[in-house]
Amino acid sequence: MAEAAGDVRAEIERLRELINYHNYRYYVLDSPEITDAEYDQLMRRLEQLEREHPELITPDSPTQRVGAAPSEQFATVRHRRPMLSLSNAMNEDEMREFDARVRRMLRLDGEVEYVSEVKLDGVAVELVYENGVLTVGSTRGDGINGEDVTQNIKTIKSVPLRLIKPRHGRLPTLLEVRGEVILPRKAFERLNEERIAKGEPPFANPRNAAAGSLRQLDPRVTASRPLDLFCHTPGVIEGVEFKSQWEFLQGIKEFGLKVNPLSQICRGVEDVLAYWRKISEMRHELDYDADGIVAKVNSFALQEQLGEVSRSPRWAIAFKFKAQQAETKIKRIVVSVGRTGSLTPVAELEPVQLAGVTISSASLHNLDEIRRKDIREGDTVLLERAGDVIPYVVRVTKKASPRAKPFEMPTHCPECGGAVSHEPGEVAYYCVNVNCPARMRESIRHFASKACFDIEGLGDKLVAQLVEKGLVRELADLFSLKEEQLVELERMGKQSARKLLANIQRARRVTLDRLINALGIRHVGEHTARQLALHFGNIERLRKASEEELRQVRDIGPEIAASIAQYFAEPRNQKALDRLLEHIDVEPVFTAKPRAALQDKTFVLTGTLESMSRTEAERKILAAGGKVSSSVSSKTDYVVAGANPGSKLDRARALGVKVIGEEEFLRMLGEKE
Ligand code: IVH
Repeated sequence: MAEAAGDVRAEIERLRELINYHNYRYYVLDSPEITDAEYDQLMRRLEQLEREHPELITPDSPTQRVGAAPSEQFATVRHRRPMLSLSNAMNEDEMREFDARVRRMLRLDGEVEYVSEVKLDGVAVELVYENGVLTVGSTRGDGINGEDVTQNIKTIKSVPLRLIKPRHGRLPTLLEVRGEVILPRKAFERLNEERIAKGEPPFANPRNAAAGSLRQLDPRVTASRPLDLFCHTPGVIEGVEFKSQWEFLQGIKEFGLKVNPLSQICRGVEDVLAYWRKISEMRHELDYDADGIVAKVNSFALQEQLGEVSRSPRWAIAFKFKAQQAETKIKRIVVSVGRTGSLTPVAELEPVQLAGVTISSASLHNLDEIRRKDIREGDTVLLERAGDVIPYVVRVTKKASPRAKPFEMPTHCPECGGAVSHEPGEVAYYCVNVNCPARMRESIRHFASKACFDIEGLGDKLVAQLVEKGLVRELADLFSLKEEQLVELERMGKQSARKLLANIQRARRVTLDRLINALGIRHVGEHTARQLALHFGNIERLRKASEEELRQVRDIGPEIAASIAQYFAEPRNQKALDRLLEHIDVEPVFTAKPRAALQDKTFVLTGTLESMSRTEAERKILAAGGKVSSSVSSKTDYVVAGANPGSKLDRARALGVKVIGEEEFLRMLGEKE
């Protein structure tokens, strides 16, 4: 018996070691040696043994990544050594000054050896390994005290719960490492899409998303976010000695910790500057946000000699990337018409590369802005990409000579020639013609977008043609389109016409919140639409609501209430809504009720469902507490297969993942008996 128990213990140990090793290959080295199914088998065997012998479960077992219950708040952890911050160099000269100071203080004639690293734009944390086992993970906090987020850090797959013993040498008895938790850009985008679908506010950037995910009181939420962690700096280390930053990075890599592969030894400051230029250029190709580079004196002995001043080390410096800017010439200033009829001046630019994309236009927002910056046609301007997304004009760098006349807003709509209205004292200008083709085009685009009717295949060119040919004069017309009409259009064959019509058919069923959003009422976006749907329950009550009643709705202030009342006070809008309602089925708003059958289960969708679009299916899964993934792995719980499923179905079968059809899926959602 005792021997049997010994055997179990040995098998558990062996399994843990194997699983840790394959985790490392997969999450740290990105180079797996076994298939997902094989990995899963190891994991299942370990889980089984631990179930049978709970006394053998240890906190560093791979099964314990999401082992802890949600907590009320985080405890405080005092860092053994303060977590310092970095001083910044603003330009190349300041980098050279930093290097000169280092050499002066060290009385060195020759070049200093630096390690240059990418400065990751994430959340600073500290990991503590005692005898190779992860015991504490904490945030930086104020540098002295941080928050204990051990349970959440443990859910990050690239963080080893136990270090790998190196082939030569041993494990430190104490290893503190500092690093950066990041959320890869792609995962960030996916997360935001999910949040928007659930009616939650999206995160502003990957750093906020990483911080929010790490500071979750429920580790299961953190576990659902694919965070990653790169280690970059030592804290207190006992039992093993590293002589330099480079040696440290190589050493911890051998222990199984993830380090950034772009770090590099640089001899002298000119090498560091070349590194900065190289990383500046490639930053947009990285899968994570970086905001600069960090240069560190390589030798720990020299670091110690240099010491620190006012909470920053004298041996390291950050050199941020330049804001992404480019200069170009304004060819023309045109005015575009939005779906509410609002007129926006837009600069047509000589195409220029900015942060990896070609920019050929930039919104100038409104007349006040143009006057303030005195922007005119022919001027050369400085462009910047704010938050690395939308390009905007910072200022004029070279005035055209001779200068064009100051820009004025048109008195008639540039699209339809209709009158333009402008309230004195307000910045906005509007085309008052509700039948303006530009307004119609934008309305259709909005109507068909994912958050509204979600009609796939209604691209910009097609919409323009539908409006131009008079096939769609109001939104309801979309539902009466005929194959004969569509095939007449440019680049529209029989096949694609049928496909589009099928997509439109499918879109007939819509939830109330999406219908409200789709109407394109000024100031009513996804969130407000949802609040209105929840409050009124059906469209009839909403369309008759007084401004007074509208103000009672959660999150709706006087301005929005007035705008909604104004919209429904217009008989043309009421008529258009009547006609639309003839073609569609409105369902009550989808309240996010968790359903036990879907709780924390991961779904992958393949093929076409009859009763709902893919986005709708995803939305329902998320709202019911499930998760959606785009690829099948051993971690997938269900593959929902519609008509014409793709290779995901084959993969599901190969991995032994449960495949369900539409009927069963609807039953799980509670939409079918
Ligand atoms: S070294 C004493 N290296 O930037 C040196 N920091 O104020 C401590 N950061 O919050 C930092 N990437 O978390 C270092 N490769 C890197 C880094 C890095 C990002 C963060 C760090 C700290 C901030 C500097």
